[in-house]
Amino acid sequence: MPSSEVFTSGPEQVAYTTSNGAPYPEPYQAQRFSNGKKNIGGPLLLQDFHHIDLLAHFDRERIPERVVHAKGGGAHGVFEATHDISDLCCAEMFKKGSKTPLTMRFSTVGGESGSADTARDPRGFSVKLRTSQGNWDWVFNNTPIFFLRDPAKFPHFIHTQKRDPQTHLKDADMFWDYLSQNPESVHQVMILFGDRGIPKRHDLQHGYSGHTFKFINAQGEWQYVQIHVRSDQGTDFYTQEEGVKLAGENPDIHNQQLFEQIEKGQFPSWTVSVQTMTQKQAEEFRYSVFDLTKVWPHAEFPLRPVGKITLNKNPSNYFAEIEQVAFAPSHLVPGVEPSADPVLQSRLFSYPDTHRHRLGVNYQQIPVNAPLVPVANFQRDGFMSVNGNQGSRPNYVSTIKPLQYPKQVSVQDAVHQDFTASTISYFLSQVDEKDFEQPRALWEKVFDEQAKERFINNVSGHLGGAKSREIIQRQLAVFGRVHPDISSRISAKIGA
Ligand code: HEM
Repeated sequence: MPSSEVFTSGPEQVAYTTSNGAPYPEPYQAQRFSNGKKNIGGPLLLQDFHHIDLLAHFDRERIPERVVHAKGGGAHGVFEATHDISDLCCAEMFKKGSKTPLTMRFSTVGGESGSADTARDPRGFSVKLRTSQGNWDWVFNNTPIFFLRDPAKFPHFIHTQKRDPQTHLKDADMFWDYLSQNPESVHQVMILFGDRGIPKRHDLQHGYSGHTFKFINAQGEWQYVQIHVRSDQGTDFYTQEEGVKLAGENPDIHNQQLFEQIEKGQFPSWTVSVQTMTQKQAEEFRYSVFDLTKVWPHAEFPLRPVGKITLNKNPSNYFAEIEQVAFAPSHLVPGVEPSADPVLQSRLFSYPDTHRHRLGVNYQQIPVNAPLVPVANFQRDGFMSVNGNQGSRPNYVSTIKPLQYPKQVSVQDAVHQDFTASTISYFLSQVDEKDFEQPRALWEKVFDEQAKERFINNVSGHLGGAKSREIIQRQLAVFGRVHPDISSRISAKIGA
């Protein structure tokens, strides 16, 4: 858990000062010209630093909100390694018994910063692990799959889930226009409009890497992995009607519940496990391990327990510790590598890029983002370099005062040995029958009759709001490829 010194500005009982620390007697007063008359005063004075600084700082209080996942809440806690997985991964935080402080943030995706917690939306599920080898961020969702596997589609997809460029309204036609033209999304659409679309509390949901990563052991051997973070509280959901009602009555209910739970000492926890796959298994697997729209069946690739996450401390300042936290899938540690999943590869760029825009080039120096281990490199200067700027150490590779470099460990030798290329090609996936198998299994084997009925109602309520018959028919055809019952039941409900 981060030390309180890092996150608080000092003792509560302090004297009021200006921003340069000078004692000041009255926060409400402003200097003005005066001629001594009781009710008629002159204009205010430019020399009044206190008043001008107050207004100027207020004018600049807002920073850009996250372009997606803007509404969220979180807390601090700890990861404890409960099982030995040294045969799989040499990251130090996995040494059995070791404890790693962390910060977690839960979010909706499409809504703005003040939007309702109970919107039907996937949920972000992010963890910043402050390991002894630097920070490792898990930027996960509460679903094991995603709407797309072609990264260039992401901005288009997000635009359609947000607001119409003219009306600035959410728009059912835009929403379904995209999804019906990109049927690989249907697996995630089935989950979104199923019960997992509105979780009941932040701690009543699981988190998933979704992407395939690589774990490397001390011998340099690697395997593909998917990380699962399963709630020890179980899962629960709100119905569409409950979600809509609460969106009006208490749009911040999830953040409120998490805060109150932790204040009462009811600390939520999650069990972390991994699924693993060798390179040979991946070559023989029915689906591509780089296809973000597919899960790895648990029967073939069972969960292997790794550790436990517990949240046990509320932020003492929301902006400092939750709004400014910057998670990136590219913040990795030795023993963990990204796979070649094109969406993951694109995300490796996108998050640090948005952080430089949202928080500034020195975002890693902000206390909630700063690693607990010393940072030593040749990056210097830039806006808001606030941690001493690495002092007098040379800002170039020097022989006079050299940095120490870790010796080439087998981890580094193994990097990318599985990949060579000699040509450039363009990646754009094609939809085929296999894209409908896993959504079909959801419908046939996972949803019971009540869950099916809720799913049909949830989709009908939304799709029925689209004005274009063409879009409705196209989406019904997508559902028809999953199972004819789905399209016929929705069709009957919305009179399409
Ligand atoms: C937030 C981009 C796909 C999970 C964000 C942000 C950007 C972004 C720019 C805002 C980050 C910030 O301001 O700090 C993208 C792109 C994607 C993609 C370009 C695909 C090409 C995904 C996927 C997942 C995911 C597949 C989950 C598996 C999240 C989460 C957050 C987030 C959890 C919120 C992080 C937080 O709590 O601060 N994404 N995203 N994203 N994204 Fe993605």
